[in-house]
Amino acid sequence: MPPFPLSSLPLPFRLGLAAVVLVLLGGLAVSASHLWLHHEKRDGRAGLTLDDLTGAYHGIQAVAPILLSLDRGHPEQLPAAERDALRRWLGLSDLAVAYDDTKAGDMAPAEILDRRCLSCHARDAKDGDGIGKKVPLEYWDDVVKQAESRVVQPNEVPIVVASAHTHALGMGSLTVVAILLAAGSRWSRRGTGALALLAGLGLCVDLACWLPAREFALLVPVLAGAGGLWAGCTGALLLAVLGDLLLPAPRAR
Ligand code: HEC
Repeated sequence: MPPFPLSSLPLPFRLGLAAVVLVLLGGLAVSASHLWLHHEKRDGRAGLTLDDLTGAYHGIQAVAPILLSLDRGHPEQLPAAERDALRRWLGLSDLAVAYDDTKAGDMAPAEILDRRCLSCHARDAKDGDGIGKKVPLEYWDDVVKQAESRVVQPNEVPIVVASAHTHALGMGSLTVVAILLAAGSRWSRRGTGALALLAGLGLCVDLACWLPAREFALLVPVLAGAGGLWAGCTGALLLAVLGDLLLPAPRAR
């Protein structure tokens, strides 16, 4: 018997609580979509990836792969004037416009890539030991992935601190409510206990990583995993509570 069996509460209490639990579940879902929209574009590409979170918590400094390869003298046969033209292009802020600039004629980046790279970097290229399948440079969509250098500054410390103080209090209180309510539900203590443990640990690890992640990029996936674990377990606890509140009371044995 739980210390405070939810299902023994009179119906108005159960319905009132159920409505609030629905609001909390809605809040979790809205937070998830906010997280997505807030971080999605941070690395300059659509979709929420680990890179976006790395950008927010640690920062990204990635030099364009093409620039790196030009700097190390690849491909050897590339004439110096064309190497310089590509380097200049890669330093521009708007790569797309200059890419196939007709005024540049033969020296337009698209023309140079076509002439000097596609013998190996096309999907069906015979040379290059299959590099054309791994790193194709045939279309703009291929090229842009290799041509963009990305510098993403992490959020500033005062912003992280401001965000951490509201998140710690809000997420912490929500988790306490979910755990206590679930402890009063009819469901197996083992199941809800495991969820409670993982939700608590997940939250603790997530928040504890926020500031250190500025220094150690390795902590970004840890933080993301712990946050996901927290959200999943807290959501599951709230669903379990909702079920318990809405189902008819189990008959006393
Ligand atoms: C003769 C074939 C050949 C030509 C021509 C060639 N490449 Fe490559 N490229 C390779 C091979 C093979 C690799 C993988 C081994 C290496 O990194 O050297 C490579 C690697 C690269 C990489 C690194 C990919 C990565 O992620 O490690 C980039 C970027 C690249 N090439 C760009 C170019 C550009 C731009 C041109 C034209 C200006 C070009 N390559 C011309 C064969 C070629």
